[in-house]
Amino acid sequence: MQLTSPIGVFDSGYGGLTVLREIVKKLPQYDYLYLGDNARAPYGPRSFDTVYQYTLECVQWFFSQGCELVVLACNTASAKALRTIQQKDLPRIDPSKRVLGVIRPTTEIIGNYSQTQEVGILGTSGTVQSGSYPIEIEKFFPDLKVYQEACPMWVPLVENNEYDKPGADYFIRQHIDQLMGQSGQIDTVLLACTHYPLLIDKIRKTLPPGTQIVSQGNIVADSLADYLQRHPGMERKISRGAGRVFYTTDSTADFDNHAAVFFGEPVHSLHLDLSKG
Ligand code: DGL
Repeated sequence: MQLTSPIGVFDSGYGGLTVLREIVKKLPQYDYLYLGDNARAPYGPRSFDTVYQYTLECVQWFFSQGCELVVLACNTASAKALRTIQQKDLPRIDPSKRVLGVIRPTTEIIGNYSQTQEVGILGTSGTVQSGSYPIEIEKFFPDLKVYQEACPMWVPLVENNEYDKPGADYFIRQHIDQLMGQSGQIDTVLLACTHYPLLIDKIRKTLPPGTQIVSQGNIVADSLADYLQRHPGMERKISRGAGRVFYTTDSTADFDNHAAVFFGEPVHSLHLDLSKG
């Protein structure tokens, strides 16, 4: 199926499908084109330069497919590549196109969830080291105390289909204990990686009872709906055939096997070889 002007949704692998799932529920009328760069995942431990180069390459591919609007449904790419792409690359490539991320919409509202005004952030090493969450949250909720914990093993657990196995428990407990050990007042924990909703049952069992868990799918879907309402010029450019096309840079058989769990319905993907660009 060839889509005319779909909304592009990008992630290093499967995680963005947890976001696309909520976007599609909220805005089913539009066409969507998904790309998982599974062949190069995880992005979390990679350098700023590498994440930026990979993400830019994928964004340019979305543009070549007719996308006017691309959502980086990946915190690591949003933390390490989005600003440079928005400020340096878009004016050069095509100033009318837009690339949005997942960090800004989350930081705009995260403070509203907490009674104690203390929140914990669980993310990849890249997201945590970038400091993007504390920096952005400070702008909207200057009094909110923010604690972070990098969970480098969690994306590999999900990408390798080990997320619901007993072995995952050890790594979940390790990082939850380290996060919650930073303050007894944390009442809200943000899953600041789009892969982590797959681990939510284990995370819930490990966190102290009553701790609120926030994942980003709904937040990003609401924010995209709001964006399109405020930008009718962009909204008009997006094609409305309710089409969904999925690409992976790795094996399509593997992608299709795992993607259904993330997306909530069967997925039939196509292969993309970025080197043939
Ligand atoms: N889903 C990506 C995120 O939200 C995972 C990054 C990775 O590949 O390590 O950060």
